[in-house]
Order: sequence, then C-alpha cells, then structure tokens
Amino acid sequence: MDYFIRELTPPEPASARDGEAWRLLERFRDIVNSGYAATYGEGRLLETSQRILADWTMPGPVTSRLFLAFPSGDGQDAGEHAVAAAKLMVSPRDSPTHAYPHVVVDAPARRRGIGTFVADHLEELARADGRTFLQSWVEHPTPGGERVAAPTGHGSVSTADPAARFLWKTGWELGQIERISELRLPVPAESLRTHIEAATARAGVDYRVLTWEGESDAAHLDDLARLNGDMSVDAPAGELEVDEEHWDAERVAQMERRALASGATFLNAAVLHVPSGHLVAQSMLQLDLDDTTRPAQQDNTLVTSTHRGRRLGMLVKAANLEQLAGRYPECTGVFTWNAEENAHMLRVNEALGFVQLAPEGGWQKRL
Ligand SMILES: CC(C)(COP(=O)(O)OP(=O)(O)OC[C@H]1O[C@@H](n2cnc3c(N)ncnc32)[C@H](O)[C@@H]1OP(=O)(O)O)[C@@H](O)C(=O)NCCC(=O)NCCS
Repeated sequence: MDYFIRELTPPEPASARDGEAWRLLERFRDIVNSGYAATYGEGRLLETSQRILADWTMPGPVTSRLFLAFPSGDGQDAGEHAVAAAKLMVSPRDSPTHAYPHVVVDAPARRRGIGTFVADHLEELARADGRTFLQSWVEHPTPGGERVAAPTGHGSVSTADPAARFLWKTGWELGQIERISELRLPVPAESLRTHIEAATARAGVDYRVLTWEGESDAAHLDDLARLNGDMSVDAPAGELEVDEEHWDAERVAQMERRALASGATFLNAAVLHVPSGHLVAQSMLQLDLDDTTRPAQQDNTLVTSTHRGRRLGMLVKAANLEQLAGRYPECTGVFTWNAEENAHMLRVNEALGFVQLAPEGGWQKRL
C-alpha cells in the first residue's frame, strides 16, 4: 500500500472547534497519546489539543510543523484514516544546525514501512531547510533482553525495543539515556516536611525558599532567565551535541504565557540567596488544568554552580511537592526525566520516592 503525508494547518479562526483542521488536530493528539501509554500507563500522560495548538501557534523560540500520514486513495485524507502523526521542530536562534523530528505510527499500522516513509519525509524537509543535524528523544519501554549501553556508560536500551531498532536501522546513534521516573502521590506530608527541614538546616540562614503558582513576579525574571540558560549547558548531555540556549526575561515570560495558554498551570519553588538578593535555585512543575488528577510533569530543576552542595536541590524539589500537595491534593503523581549519569539529581529523586518507569534515549543523526 502507498501512503501520503499532509501538513496540518491551525484551525482558523483559532477558536474554531468544529472544522476539519480541529478534527485533524484531535486525531494527531490521539495517535501521540496512544504512543505514550506503553511507557507512562494508560491515560497517565496525555497530550491535549489545547497544548498542541499553543505550542504550535504561540510565539516562542521553538517552531513546529505537524503532519499526518494517510493511505493513498480517494477520501482517505479524513482524520480517522490517519496512520501516523509526525512533528518537525526547529529552534533557529539556539541551534541553527539542528532539527528535531518525531514520528508516531498508530499501533495497528506498525511494521509496514510507514515510520520509515514519514521519517524520510521529515529528513528531506530538514535538509531542504539547511539543517545538518537531527536529534530526538524517544521512550524505550521494552524491558529486559540483551541491552545496549549508552556511550556515557549509564543506562541502556533493549535490542528488542521497536523504536531503538527503527532508529538504528535508519542511521541514528544513541547519545545518552535519561531515566523516566514517577513519584506516586500522595506522599506522607511528614516525609516531605522532614526533607525540607533537614535541607533548610543544612543550607543555613543565607537561603530562603519561595513558592508560587503561575506567572512569576517581574522582579524574578532575570534570575530565572539565568537559571534556565545555565540549565541548557549544566545538565549532562552525554554524546549529544547541544548548544547553549539564549535566555532573557522576555523569554521566561513568553514561556509562562505559552504554558498558561495551553491550559496548564505551573508551580515554582526557588531559593533566594539573601545576602545577594538573587535566586540561585529553581524547580518547576506543570500540570494540565483539564484534569488535575493526572500526574504533573517536572520541568527544570537547577542550582547555580557556586551554591551547590548545600541541599538546595532537595530543598526546591521537596518544597514544590509540598506546594503541589497543598494546591492540588487530587494530583496522583509526578513524572520526571533525568540523565542516567546525573547521580546527584537521581539521589534526590530516589530519596523523595521516585521510581523508574523506563529509559528514554537521546538520539542523533548527521545529515
Ligand atoms: C518506531 C516506530 C515509529 C516505527 O514505525 P513503523 O512504521 O513500525 O516502522 P517501519 O515499518 O518503517 O520499520 C522500519 C524498520 O524498523 C525496525 N523495526 C520497527 N519496528 C520493529 C519491531 N517491532 N521489532 C523489530 N524491528 C522493528 C525494523 O528494522 C524495520 O524494518 P523491517 O520491517 O524491514 O525489518 C513505531 O514503532 C512507533 O510509532 N513507536 C512509538 C513512537 C516512537 O517511539 N517513535 C520514535 C521514533 S522518532
């Protein structure tokens, strides 16, 4: 059978929820979500149409193109016939040479060459756009079996994993493994308090924790921008070639507006270094407001390098979990993604009760 690919266009007007563009977007969402179930559990991590639309259409440093693949033939381009969803992202200001493709083939349509067909198409588009490097993060839930280690020596994927086999076959190289973990909530309030008090005592009087929900105070934006920029180079990247991200106050504000427009809220915990008046640690959680029982997602956690070794990492994470429990006690979990070689962060997470779900591979391919 032959297939063809159609690029999606955002619903017009943006509020239209009944037209063809919206139906295609919902089919895109459903294919992506079915791909998550094997790793995160049925219905635990779900993309929402509102979030896809906000990420796709709102101003930001990353721009995306979305695609669906269909079987060839008259009338086959209606949403329900789509057999694969694909996204091609670029972030020209941070990484002018890179493109970030992602392909999900609907489970019943796998192993018919559709993944290869769609991936080839994205590769051609990236090449035509002058990109020389592809990168992608991919979940590898297949347990056991013969394992291939990441080049970092930390973490591995099963040689039986479909996505890993697919990527090896199409010329990609594994550069790093992250550990996907989940903390099931609720956790006992006393246990979080104990962690917070121990970390506060260790940090000493020069450090004070702040927590807030939603848009950050304008006075914090420059510090948050510095922390985000540090995160892009300080977090271990294994063999992956990554560029430093350029952050300023406006980019932080833009990211926050985008998250809120996507139907999410976010919770921040930060540590103020009292003598200097600057924030020196931050941890952020996002959760979808359409169903706050679903797990929250951990975003950046970072401690400025000159302030490490004082338990500030534990302090911001535990303080934010306490904030989450206070504001959204119905939330059933938190997902987090950490480099396997990031021993400090993993130790903090394990102490808080996070358990491993699956590895996620960072892959790259030179065009
Ligand atoms: C990875 C994925 C996109 C592959 O899509 P697909 O349409 O099944 O892939 P293809 O039919 O083009 O397979 C190409 C090659 O990949 C390998 N492969 C794919 N699935 C495999 C499986 N289940 N077992 C073993 N090898 C597999 C094979 O070498 C295959 O070639 P062959 O059939 O000639 O042996 C699909 O499994 C998927 O959507 N997984 C979930 C989402 C995901 O992980 N996406 C990441 C890709 S960026």
